Amino acid sequence: MIHDEFIPQVYAEQVENGSFTWVSPSNIALVKYWGKKQDQIPENPSISFTLDNCKTTTKLSFTKNEREEDFSFEVFLDGVKKDDFKPKIATFFKRVEVYLPFLKAYHFKIETSNTFPHSSGIASSASGMSALALCLLSIEKKLCFEMSEEDFLRKASFIARLGSGSACRSLEGNLVVWGKHDRIDGSSNLFGIQYPYEVHQNFQNYQDTILLVDKGEKQVSSTVGHNLMHGHPFSSERFKQANNNLSQLISILKEGRLDEFIELVESEALTLHAMMMTSLPYFILMKPNTLEIINKIWGFRKKTGSKVCFTLDAGANVHVLYPEQEASVVLEFIKNELVVYCQNGQYICDVVGLGAKQI
Ligand code: PMV
Repeated sequence: MIHDEFIPQVYAEQVENGSFTWVSPSNIALVKYWGKKQDQIPENPSISFTLDNCKTTTKLSFTKNEREEDFSFEVFLDGVKKDDFKPKIATFFKRVEVYLPFLKAYHFKIETSNTFPHSSGIASSASGMSALALCLLSIEKKLCFEMSEEDFLRKASFIARLGSGSACRSLEGNLVVWGKHDRIDGSSNLFGIQYPYEVHQNFQNYQDTILLVDKGEKQVSSTVGHNLMHGHPFSSERFKQANNNLSQLISILKEGRLDEFIELVESEALTLHAMMMTSLPYFILMKPNTLEIINKIWGFRKKTGSKVCFTLDAGANVHVLYPEQEASVVLEFIKNELVVYCQNGQYICDVVGLGAKQI
């Protein structure tokens, strides 16, 4: 389905060449997106914390493309040419061409780098696709006579979504909602919006320490994973539950109710994995050390009354979430008791951030 509101009218300006650079962060979902319809439309709404330290920097340079018949681009990761990235980007360009009709008019050089180690098991698709979408929108903004900041961000999120669903939640800070939800004004299946309601002080500068349990290749690509929700025996209940959880979260966030936050966030993480374990084919993406860490977190919480909790992506790594005022105590606990379960002792300290920046 084509969304006419994102097709530009006419380009008023002419631009021969130039370059734009954006830094865009990763994000971590509290209520998870798992299952999509055609054209990257989510089956349920999701909400995430935008991160700060895990990010991608992308420089997009463009010059006039003489041939204008096909897409023309080259990709570099940390200065090294990456032809194996090209099919994914070509698919993305094909998908968004109707919304960015200048794509064949230029030859692009895409130079990208991540702050987190490549193949750390941290998906670079959210930060990478949002950074690329923002660079493309910067070109479009130059070609247009005028474009408001709001229209710019909304279309960049719309375009990022077509690259990788969760990427549409990486442009702005602190909390971003993607997917239509009855109780969240302005929410849309087409792009992410900044969470529009009050958030309690308890959630300011929330900490996320990412424990790198397994840095291997993903067992299941997220495309395959999302598709496994079609015909899944529990899918319709799961989609209802996600909607419900997001409703609950509104008052939890407003009133700063940490115990309920913990319960909801951990339940979401385990449900995501339960969906994978109960699909056909089935997968177990957690590793023994993922479970060791979860049990240690539960033990620590019980012993100390700490408000630390965990969440998971579609992999074995653990995101340890905790309030800023517990930062030093929890970091000590992580170093003393959890790092031993990380591959090569690796972990990344992150915190909720403000979103993407142009540099
Ligand atoms: O953006 P995708 O298609 O890679 O899907 C990401 C899905 C999860 O990370 C598992 C959950 C989420 O909402 O981010």
